[in-house]
Amino acid sequence: MSGRSIGGWFRGRRANAGASEPGTADESELAPDNIPRHVAVIMDGNGRWAKSRGLPRIAGHHNGMKAVKRIAKAADRIGIQVLTLYAFSTENWKRPKAEVEFLMKLPEEFLSIELGELIENNVQVRMMGNMEGLPGHTLAAVREAVRRTADNTGMILNFALNYGSRMEMMEAVRLLARDAARGELDPESITEETFESRLLSAGLPDPDLLIRTSGELRLSNFMLWQLAYSEFWFTDVYWPEFTEQHLFAAVREYQRRARRYGGL
Ligand code: IPE
Ligand code: IPE
Ligand code: MG
Repeated sequence: MSGRSIGGWFRGRRANAGASEPGTADESELAPDNIPRHVAVIMDGNGRWAKSRGLPRIAGHHNGMKAVKRIAKAADRIGIQVLTLYAFSTENWKRPKAEVEFLMKLPEEFLSIELGELIENNVQVRMMGNMEGLPGHTLAAVREAVRRTADNTGMILNFALNYGSRMEMMEAVRLLARDAARGELDPESITEETFESRLLSAGLPDPDLLIRTSGELRLSNFMLWQLAYSEFWFTDVYWPEFTEQHLFAAVREYQRRARRYGGL
């Protein structure tokens, strides 16, 4: 990426005697008054990361969990208000049973280690997905985390788990249709806000910034409605090796973009 601003360059040099690695940035290069409110991340490349090291795919998922902690802490530190992490899609059930079972144990493992610290840091854990489709043990762990952090007022850490955007929108349509069929909703009164209030993301601002790791340039059924005007940032880095400095690089790039929303 070219076009570093002169101010950013000097700020970066002062804080960090050597220039940042390409594709990374230092926290001191960020404008504190223009931090994206909501950052959404498609955490991809765990399997390829493991393969490149001769490890089984599940080792990639395990190391991906460490990146989750690292990035959540960094996001909180720079003042991101909502961090949404795509952890498991409605399409990921197509994977081999053993991998799916491993992935369904990760939320429990993550929360058993991190819930105390999340509570201490006033983080509110949320879940976005089809909770009924989760195994009982996974559901119990995520329910507990949501319940115990519900009153926290700090960063929202929103896990998209068993999430699919089309499923989410179909369900919103069903909810609206049911209300209309019961005579409780006039179809002519349906607005974008009415629809959004039936989405799993209800109450959250739309993501300002979408990050996808591992070099894939697609949405894979993620927040299709909510990403209508988000800024996209892609990196070839695999999720387990995604660091704070990659997050800062994404935010720094976001800060250089002109968001026009169709205007001038
Ligand atoms: C992302 O890594 C994690 C999930 C989708 C659960 P992948 O498992 O998709 O890793 P790759 O894309 O195969 O490398
Ligand atoms: C998207 O990654 C889902 C998550 C990161 C949880 P995938 O690896 O499942 O996406 P595709 O299959 O490459 O599109
Ligand atoms: Mg993948």
